[in-house]
Parts: sequence; C-alpha cells; structure tokens
Amino acid sequence: MRKRILEVLINSKDKFISGEELSKSIGVSRTAVWKHIKKLKEEGYKIESVPKRGYMLIKEGDKLDSKLLSIDMKNKVIGKEIIHFDSIDSTSNHAKAIALEGAEEGTVVIAEEQTKGRGRLGRSWVSPKGQGIWMSIILRPDIIPTHAMKITQIVAAAITEALRKFTKDDVLIKWPNDIVLHKKKVCGILTEMSAEIDKVNFVIVGIGVNANMDETLLPEDVADKAVSLAKYMDDDISRKEIVKEILYEFEKLYMDFIESRSIEKSIDICRQYSATLNNTVRIISRDSEVKARAIDLSEEGELVVEYEDGRVEKVFSGEVSV
Ligand code: BTN
Repeated sequence: MRKRILEVLINSKDKFISGEELSKSIGVSRTAVWKHIKKLKEEGYKIESVPKRGYMLIKEGDKLDSKLLSIDMKNKVIGKEIIHFDSIDSTSNHAKAIALEGAEEGTVVIAEEQTKGRGRLGRSWVSPKGQGIWMSIILRPDIIPTHAMKITQIVAAAITEALRKFTKDDVLIKWPNDIVLHKKKVCGILTEMSAEIDKVNFVIVGIGVNANMDETLLPEDVADKAVSLAKYMDDDISRKEIVKEILYEFEKLYMDFIESRSIEKSIDICRQYSATLNNTVRIISRDSEVKARAIDLSEEGELVVEYEDGRVEKVFSGEVSV
C-alpha cells in the first residue's frame, strides 16, 4: 500500500495531490492515507503536507531504496525481492548468509555503502556512500560448478547492454568480468558460489559500478585504472534508473539461459562488445607465461586463444592477463 502511495506521489511530480484524490486512486480511506503518509515520513521520505492542498513528495533523491526501486520494475524474478542497506560490510556477504537460510532466486541485496567491499582475488573494493552501485544477486541455476563462468558472461553482457543506454561512449567488456569505458574500469563483477562436486547450490553475483566516485578515495594502484560513469554522461546520473536497467537486461538474458540451456545470446553480446578479442593476452601457468592472441569466446564463456605456433586452446579467467 505504501508503495502505491509513493507511486502516485512520484507521478504527480512537483504538484500537491489532495488526500481525497489519493484515497480515491488507491481505494482506501483518507485516514488510512494519512496513516501511511505518517509511516513513510518516519521511514525518511520527505513529504510536505499542507491543509486543503494535500501532499507532495519533496525530493525523491537518488537513494536505492527498495520501494523506490521496485516502482515500474518490469522484472518477474530478478529483483522481485530487494533488500536495501544504508551501510553494510559487503552485499555479497549478506546475500550469501540469506541464501544459506533459503532466500529465493532473484533476491537482490543493495547498499549505499560497503565497509568491507570485496573484489576478485582477495582484493578490497572501495564502496563509498552514494557514489556507486553496490549490489549482489542470489541465483539458483541448475548447472555444474565448472559452468559458473557462464553466469559471469551473462552478467557482463547485461551490464554492458544496460550501461550503453546511458552513455554514447563505448562501454566494452574486458573478459571475463570487467566492464571498461575508455580502457578504464567502470564496473567489476564478482561471481561466487556454494557447490558440491557436481551441483551448484547457489551463486552470488556481486556487481560494483563506479557511478560517481570521488577518485581521491581510490587506492593508488587502482586510481589510474578506474573511471566513473558520471564522467561520460551529460545528465545527472540516476543510480536508480541504472540499477533497474541492469536488472531488466539481466533477467532477459538469464531467463533465456534457463529456458534454452544456452548462453548464446549473451556470448554474442560479449563478442560484439569485447575489449579483449583480437588482442594479445598473456597466458599464465604455474611456471611460465606465454603470449597468445584472443580469437573467440566459447559457448561456455571461455576465452579461445591462438599461440604463436598455431595451437588453439580454451582458457579460464585465472590464467589470463591482458
Ligand atoms: C572486481 O574485483 O572487479 C569485482 C568487484 C565486485 C564488487 C562488488 S560491489 C557489490 C558486491 N559486494 C562486494 O563485496 N563485492 C561485490
């Protein structure tokens, strides 16, 4: 009910809407409207109430609040349940904890700030308040553990499709899980899973988008490799709209995978917007490092490389550096 009231207030933009109009459009009494407005105010929404004029939402703000996010959301599965925190250690840690307790597929955990954001390979991920999109999605795909790479490729494709709607500049995928803008990282993906030998219990996809970062907060070693989306957007960046778009594109590609058992559509997008293909990469093994040319992506999401001696091989993420 409170979500419906918010929806009407948002749609009436900067105009007052009377208690009577609100009660009619929602189908509850004026007293009920008043009670819900009171609750919304307690939750932090700034709603002006003026006798004889009614109510007006003062500033929707760009908080990634679950109610505001779920308004106009077209998805059926991904983001059906959104859990929002002002501050949390890591959205992926929380997602994992609730997945262990049985949280449903598609549950999204999102935060304004992470105090212990995690990146790949044990690195930390700087996640200051309101400056990015820090979220994790719980998935329960019926796949074997060695196919988890497929999920990363679906996410990379979805994020790229979504971000390209907000910027005219070339958003590309640095295989396997970095999204780059002008060769600098604008988003990182952390795919983690809980699995048995032949069965995945759940996957947690952690997504970190540098939306509007204060670059002085970035550690020295990443400062010159990272970029904010805001730098390449004319308008004020709306994190909320970007989140909705990412979840929308992800649901389309993920559901296609669940139904068809193939990630062909995602791989086509990853190929089209690849920053890696046709470039030289270094294949790192325990005691050597060999140069090769990245020539394709396999249907499983691996990188297909060709060595100088003509040998062709499929490689996994941990073995490659661009
Ligand atoms: C990378 O190293 O590129 C992956 C970074 C992933 C960061 C995101 S932010 C939301 C989620 N929670 C975390 O602690 N990490 C991921």
